Amino acid sequence: MEQRRILVAVTGGIAAYKIPELIRILRRAGACVRCAMTPAAQEFVSPLVLQTLTGHPVRTDLFDASQEGEIDHISLADWAELVILAPATANTLAKMSCGLADDLVSAVLLATRAPVLVAPAMNVNMWEHPATRSNMETLRQRGIRAIGPEVGELACGWEGAGRMSQPEAIAAEAGLLLGSRDLAGEVVLVSAGGTREPIDRVRFLGNRSSGKMGFAVAAEAALRGADVVLVAGPTPLATPAGVRRVDVQTALEMRDALLAEFERATITVMAAAVADFRAARPSELKIKKEDLAADSGLTLELTRNPDILAELCARKGDRLVIGFAAESHDLMASAQRKIARKGCDLLVANNISSETSGFDTDDNAVVFVWPDGQVEELPTLPKRDVAAQLLDRVAKARGGDE
Ligand code: CTP
Repeated sequence: MEQRRILVAVTGGIAAYKIPELIRILRRAGACVRCAMTPAAQEFVSPLVLQTLTGHPVRTDLFDASQEGEIDHISLADWAELVILAPATANTLAKMSCGLADDLVSAVLLATRAPVLVAPAMNVNMWEHPATRSNMETLRQRGIRAIGPEVGELACGWEGAGRMSQPEAIAAEAGLLLGSRDLAGEVVLVSAGGTREPIDRVRFLGNRSSGKMGFAVAAEAALRGADVVLVAGPTPLATPAGVRRVDVQTALEMRDALLAEFERATITVMAAAVADFRAARPSELKIKKEDLAADSGLTLELTRNPDILAELCARKGDRLVIGFAAESHDLMASAQRKIARKGCDLLVANNISSETSGFDTDDNAVVFVWPDGQVEELPTLPKRDVAAQLLDRVAKARGGDE
């Protein structure tokens, strides 16, 4: 952490009393620490304490001209290489999830492009409330890291999940986040989600891909310092922090968007489930039954879509291109044939026949397949961890670990 710039943003929870200890640990590890506080946080710990421990004036007010003169809130957001929000109250997490910026801390959280680590602390019922659950899910999808809360006796008298993680654990997690900038300088192009191929004005051919795997790769790559472009099929997922997103509908649109970005990309990850076929002649209007003979079925003629991955591989030069393979049976043999056919540098094969991994789940069980026939089987992991494992291999292949 030597000389790394960490902003500790403190909000109003009783666990704020542990923040001086967190700052001491970070400082002992060599980090430069600054603090921002909400008005409520100052009810629990004095700015003077944090100023003394950090060696810097503490920012508390968005509209105080003298504080803005010292370091304005945008400069503070830009200064940070990592923001730790601790304790993170339900209120501030909700504001983050909505993108509100009505005080100094929420404004800095909205403005920063640095990774953010949140350490929630609150009453167990607030933590388990569907609103907080949904806000946390949104934040996770944007690439925000969370640590805790821990289960135990709470200051409010309840028992359950809600205690802020210990300062040592928060500092260790911060160290991990700061340590992994092994993709700085890389331009990572990721495709995610399924495509929709129109049949007529209202109907389309689609597939069950949620986009979660590709979004996890994009979020993780951004955290590791890459410049990330995400080409996404239709999905309600939130754009991860620091990622530029291009939305597309059809395979042909996805191909155009990827080709437009491919020149600049040093690493491309094709996680999208691209439709192999599209309707040969989609109708401009809605197809109506009354236009068909009574009792007749409807025959759709399909035409092949281009194989985008194979096309990118054909022009990849020294770029790294990673493909995915969705297999319902005969996984290893199909994956081996697929990597040879497509010509990519690594294929991530996943078994989509399982209920707990693959399409539209939070977990994935994958096998990494290399062109030389080597395979590496991973256990079932959350998609975020699969993304981290994949990018470990990618960074190594790009020489980022040297
Ligand atoms: N892919 C692509 N363009 C297509 C189809 C697939 O770029 N028209 C990419 C996917 O993004 C994925 C890889 O190719 O990275 C493998 O996709 P998959 O659906 O498993 O294989 P297919 O090539 O479609 O072969 P099949 O469906 O016959 O198994």
